[in-house]
Amino acid sequence: MNTYKIAVIPGDGIGLEVVPAAIEVLDKIAVIDGSFQFEWTYFPWGCEYYLEHGVMMPEDGIETLKKFDQIFLGAVGMPHLVPDHISLWGLLIKIRREMKQSINVRPAKLLAGLESPLKNPQNFNITVVRENSEGEYSDSGGRIHSGADEIAIQNAVFTRKGTERAMRYAFELAKNTKGHVTSATKSNGLTHSMPFWDEVFNSVKKDYPEINSVSNHIDALAAYMVMKPETLDVIVASNLFGDILTDLGGAIMGSIGIAPAANLNIEREYPSMFEPVHGSAPDIAGKGIANPIGQIWTGKMMLDFLGHHEAGTRILNSIEKTLASGIKTGDLGGTSTLADVKDAIIKNL
Ligand code: NAD
Ligand code: IPM
Ligand code: MN
Repeated sequence: MNTYKIAVIPGDGIGLEVVPAAIEVLDKIAVIDGSFQFEWTYFPWGCEYYLEHGVMMPEDGIETLKKFDQIFLGAVGMPHLVPDHISLWGLLIKIRREMKQSINVRPAKLLAGLESPLKNPQNFNITVVRENSEGEYSDSGGRIHSGADEIAIQNAVFTRKGTERAMRYAFELAKNTKGHVTSATKSNGLTHSMPFWDEVFNSVKKDYPEINSVSNHIDALAAYMVMKPETLDVIVASNLFGDILTDLGGAIMGSIGIAPAANLNIEREYPSMFEPVHGSAPDIAGKGIANPIGQIWTGKMMLDFLGHHEAGTRILNSIEKTLASGIKTGDLGGTSTLADVKDAIIKNL
């Protein structure tokens, strides 16, 4: 019997509601499967913790997390209590960077039982590979002068290693999908970083002659995701482009509340972190109406990463069965509560 030690950070807002729901599902699938179990350790890090302690996590927080097999996180951010740049850079982005979780895998596919807002959605199945540790998310820059002359500078930092790593991950993934990789670029508008991105893409693709590949401008690609998502397969994107495309991925599935994600340390040197695409949704927090599917599907991605594909598939099948039976939260047009959806998914496992 494998015992996985998981650090749990529910975080803020609906993170506090969807994480316990997903853990119930994961504990149930562990019992059904019988070959593994979870040992969960909770950490109360988030905006309330910040208000009490002046930091988002203790000084030795990263060292503490390194002792775990994986991290299961809800969402971070309560912008009316703590400014986002403090809360996110103090917890979520800090963990991604210090644990070298440089690849963020974010699938978007049409699920059975779900109505996409697209008029005529074909059966799309997209995986966005988002570079997760550099690019537009950089702490390089600053503000100079003041008043009418003030200038704000935000530098983007692309390393060859980081860019290549994301691209190779995408090509490797495409060996087991439809065999197509799209690179999201903006080489027509961004004079320095994105021609570099294209150069690296063109050199990496030479190593994968069996994979079809194309570069699309990010603006056109966003439109393709709406107009012809079924033509897409694996997309590799920079940190910010990937961020934006994956909320769009959630939206075309039916709701960002169901979109899962995995922040991977592909070298398996440090724990990876599993947290859905959506945020803390302060507008619906505490009401028991948040959709737990994003967090539960994220749990399935954790099982996949741990090698338990059969258990993972069972979770996704159960999600689809639940949706097809009409049990849906408000974001998907239903009237069920978070607890209704979670209970039905457990029953359908
Ligand atoms: P959000 O994803 O929290 O919410 C956007 C919209 O989607 C809201 O209307 C919300 O109600 C809805 N929504 C999101 N998840 C849902 C779910 N599971 N079920 C039903 N509806 C859902 O994005 P935002 O409003 O831009 O950000 C709110 C806070 O979350 C901010 O502090 C932001 O920085 C933070 N955030 C954190 C993460 C993270 O920790 N991974 C991700 C995104 C945003
Ligand atoms: C996400 C979020 C974060 C990001 C924010 C909250 C910093 O939007 O995980 O998609 O941009 O990476
Ligand atoms: Mn995002």
